[in-house]
Amino acid sequence: MNYSEILAEIHHEITPLFGQGKVADYIPALAKMDPNKFGMAITTIDGELFTFGNTKDEFTIQSISKVFTFVKAFSGIGEKIWEHVGREPSGTSFNSLVQLEHEFGIPRNPFINAGALVITDLLISEYGDAKKEILNFLQDLSQDRSVRFDLEVAESEKQHGFRNAALANFMKSFGNIENDIESILDTYFYHCSILMNCEELAKSFLFLANNGIIPGSNKQLLTKSQAKRTNALMLSCGLYDESGEFAFRVGLPGKSGVGGAIAAIIPNKMAISVWSPELDEYGNSLIGIKALELFTTKTGMSIF
Ligand code: DON
Repeated sequence: MNYSEILAEIHHEITPLFGQGKVADYIPALAKMDPNKFGMAITTIDGELFTFGNTKDEFTIQSISKVFTFVKAFSGIGEKIWEHVGREPSGTSFNSLVQLEHEFGIPRNPFINAGALVITDLLISEYGDAKKEILNFLQDLSQDRSVRFDLEVAESEKQHGFRNAALANFMKSFGNIENDIESILDTYFYHCSILMNCEELAKSFLFLANNGIIPGSNKQLLTKSQAKRTNALMLSCGLYDESGEFAFRVGLPGKSGVGGAIAAIIPNKMAISVWSPELDEYGNSLIGIKALELFTTKTGMSIF
């Protein structure tokens, strides 16, 4: 299949949508992103790469980092992870507090902020310097040692992180957080601030399309069953309260971030990343979703 032509067609069709979304503006460092950027990259498990647009530009991966932290924790502690976090869609916004009180401080899933904070806590208990561990993991996956934290974004998030602080404190009051709040928030904001480009992001997701194994290596990051579960979680919870709509329109497991990127996988075939900073009302890339919808429609490839 000539994916390059399809990517060019997609770009043509999404162009009228520029201006319909809004770049994240809760911190100045994100508000200054160029809304007109668009990049899309496909990496196949056979080692092919197809790109279109601004695929070498860096952006902060934000909540997409929650997939990597979850993978790291799941591979390390296995089934015990479910004592701390659930695996149900929340149907609420990514930073919502409302369900936590009724559900005794156990977040619905690892991809809402509450769940990701619990995962960060588990990683600190497991590794001590979890920040370094997460960054190394992403440098290995992307095969790029220049993958790094955006210090301005991380520090700015810290200055405005009142809701995340509330979530972490609330969960600590239920006994679902072990380490001190400050180090959890610091690690969480830093892993959200990791800078990558579309090509690196697609490459880093490829093991999820390949039963947990990095293609071309014998490196098994997750068991086949764990990879299946991670993908199921992305499908049901990866785009927060827009996950149902994403499954309906795109039909792939995927994860979004407020930096404007979405990464998705087609099992046994490929990983796809798309970046367009304007967000919809749920905090997901408006054009990114459309681009992925066009991709699965044009190619006839989805998990359904
Ligand atoms: O916790 C936050 O507010 C951000 N650093 C990450 C949120 C995010 O990416 C939500 N996804 N769409």
